[in-house]
Amino acid sequence: MRSRLLSGVWRALFGWVSRFSSDIGIDLGTANTLVHVRGRGIVLREPSVVAIDNETDRVLAVGEDAKRMVGRTPARISAIRPLRDGVIADFDITEAMLRHFVGKVHNRRFLAHPRVAVGVPAGVTEVERRAVEDAARQAGAWQAEIIDEPMAAAIGAGLPVAEAIGNMIVDIGGGTTEIAVISLGGICTQRSMRIASEEMDEAISTYIRRDFNLVVGESTAEEIKIAIGSAFPLPEELTMEVRGKDLISGLPRRITISSGEIREACAEPIAAIVELIKETLDATAPELAADIMNRGIVLAGGGALLRGLDQLVSAETDIPVYVAEDPMTCVVLGAARYLEQLDGVLSSQ
Ligand SMILES: Nc1ncnc2c1ncn2[C@@H]1O[C@H](COP(=O)(O)OP(=O)(O)OP(=O)(O)O)[C@@H](O)[C@H]1O
Ligand SMILES: [Mg+2]
Repeated sequence: MRSRLLSGVWRALFGWVSRFSSDIGIDLGTANTLVHVRGRGIVLREPSVVAIDNETDRVLAVGEDAKRMVGRTPARISAIRPLRDGVIADFDITEAMLRHFVGKVHNRRFLAHPRVAVGVPAGVTEVERRAVEDAARQAGAWQAEIIDEPMAAAIGAGLPVAEAIGNMIVDIGGGTTEIAVISLGGICTQRSMRIASEEMDEAISTYIRRDFNLVVGESTAEEIKIAIGSAFPLPEELTMEVRGKDLISGLPRRITISSGEIREACAEPIAAIVELIKETLDATAPELAADIMNRGIVLAGGGALLRGLDQLVSAETDIPVYVAEDPMTCVVLGAARYLEQLDGVLSSQ
């Protein structure tokens, strides 16, 4: 009786507090940061880039505005990607970026203390985890929850993570590829590596420099990958005109490049991703592996959008492969749903 009364009081109190607070889910990615606010959906989707004045250390621009400066900055400004290697490479700048993004979406009403859930790569150390938590608190979070990215991606992709079924999620981001087999709400097998979609951009610019004596910047290489990149032969191969700088004369020059050539250029990072999937399957318990064979592998993250990657992984593993609906939003949706589930747990106690 007393505990029922107490739980009623707790629920009422919790309902009251949550009316003044807002839940914020964040995907702090190496390439993009996404923010989801409960009741409003995804409210922010910007590149994880910060422009800094080297002389004064002042933040000049964040997100989209800062990305436009990459490769175009004068000497005293640098456009920094604070999460470049999948984890926080620069804590202060990450915090400044997080504060800017949270401030942009969160109106500071009286008592408006956001609860924040941030996805971090499953392989990060305790110190790195705490650094993200601190960054979220410094950015104004009242309560900061850290959630493993592959778990968030699986929840966001709509996989039944709480059931006694093996689910395999492959999240191919900008800087990291993370693979997990999830069952009964926990990660059973997990692998990650720092080879993902950005590695393909580098492979493309190396290929063009070597085979065409043409220098192209980071963002041009990414544009080529998105426009004509593929992992599997296309029914109709594509071509694209590319502008760059001649390696010898230093003058602007243009070439036409085909999807077959870009596939060849990206072969190594793509093979590494397929290999990691096979390795994860190999390390998975037989019952869970059988579930995955029946239910298929789900691809998430921006890298999952590469044409024919699903076909290639399926051909190499003999398992059906599906690309999540809107793969770049899985982690942020999963983080948001995780906070909602916390309420479910609290109010059912
Ligand atoms: N249509 C596309 N085809 C191929 N690659 C794409 C496409 N769209 C986006 N990408 C790539 O996806 C990557 C970004 O994906 P995502 O936003 O999931 O990464 P992230 O979450 O920021 O990174 P990480 O998870 O490694 O921290 C970029 O490298 C981008 O070039
Ligand atoms: Mg990601």
